[in-house]
Amino acid sequence: MKNQQFNTGSLITHLVCSKCNAHFDHQNIQTFSTCCNVPLSAEYNLSNQTIKAINVADYSMWRYQFVLPVLDSKNIISLNEGFTPISQLKKMSNQLSIDSLYLKDEAVNPTGSFKARGLSMGVSKAKELGIKRMVIPTAGNAGGAMSAYCAKAGIEATVIMPKHTADTLKEECRLYGANLIQIDGLIDACGKKAREIAASTGAFDMSTMKEPYRLEGKKTLGYEIAEQFNWELPNIIVYPAGGGTGLIGIWKAFKELIALNAIKGPLPKMVLVQSIECSPMVHLFHEGQLPINYAPKSSAALGLAVPYPFATAMMLAVLKESNGIALTVTEKEMEAGVEAIAKIEGLLLSPEGAATYVATQQLLKTGWAKNTDKILLMNTGSWYKYR
Ligand SMILES: Cc1ncc(COP(=O)(O)O)c(C=O)c1O
Ligand SMILES: [Zn+2]
Repeated sequence: MKNQQFNTGSLITHLVCSKCNAHFDHQNIQTFSTCCNVPLSAEYNLSNQTIKAINVADYSMWRYQFVLPVLDSKNIISLNEGFTPISQLKKMSNQLSIDSLYLKDEAVNPTGSFKARGLSMGVSKAKELGIKRMVIPTAGNAGGAMSAYCAKAGIEATVIMPKHTADTLKEECRLYGANLIQIDGLIDACGKKAREIAASTGAFDMSTMKEPYRLEGKKTLGYEIAEQFNWELPNIIVYPAGGGTGLIGIWKAFKELIALNAIKGPLPKMVLVQSIECSPMVHLFHEGQLPINYAPKSSAALGLAVPYPFATAMMLAVLKESNGIALTVTEKEMEAGVEAIAKIEGLLLSPEGAATYVATQQLLKTGWAKNTDKILLMNTGSWYKYR
């Protein structure tokens, strides 16, 4: 049954603090939870609802509008993001001696990465809430995506990026009409600058997990995975994590799909991969804290160079609830991984995507993953943007 109150059919009811469950109003502008200083999460009324409410005629992530937060369809800013292909990597699975290995290819999204999902949603909600200016700290891909959606929405965009970022990622922001600011340092330094700009200009801060709706866009990954696998999920999903929006979003989708009676447990084990150069989540998962001599560096996988993610508790909860694991790969392994998949499957993955393949090799070696497991890798972005 569709919600008649909103013309998108959205079943959103409110936002909750991800720590204490305090309620926040979704019809006002929100950032993160002011009670516990953690991310907010959108809640929907899923009782007596079914997955049949999907708009099957829409071949984008907006087919799941009824479980998305936009209330009025005139506010949807879409470039046809989502509904990306899942391919079976048959030759690679033979080489690894496993039964089934799949790849969800997010490189084909508008602006060349899965960031399109989150920013399409975040910018659409911003438009709905009357926001006129936005600022984002980014490792590269999120900035390009925000610039594109802001261009279409008529919202002023400021993007703050590390100086060392690849030229393509900078140039696309300029072409989409955004103000580009370059900073010496990693994304945390960019985040600091974004807070200053937000405070001095009134621009809305779109930092990862510091506003509630990019997560809802990333959540559509989980809905798609379930639908594309005909509601029978893989056993293992391998995800290259920076700020963690995709990991948390996929897991949120699975829980909503259980509430909708669309899938049953057990859910997949979620695997979080980072570069050894910057692996805060791997430290937190295995040691419970960052090392005393913690010295995060950049990575060829630019999106993974997030030294102090905001949503650490939510990421750890996904790993714990799913019986998952966190592991690192080296820069050399990632580089070799890109080449190995390109040569055998004809697919050029982003370094982040290649990291999921390298991690899978390791998990098979240690026996954590079995050769009978159905494993899904996430290629989160396009190789072509890192020039
Ligand atoms: C290609 C790519 N993969 C993975 C990530 C990490 O994404 P998340 O912040 O959702 O963990 C990013 C973030 O910049 C990215 O650009
Ligand atoms: Zn709270």
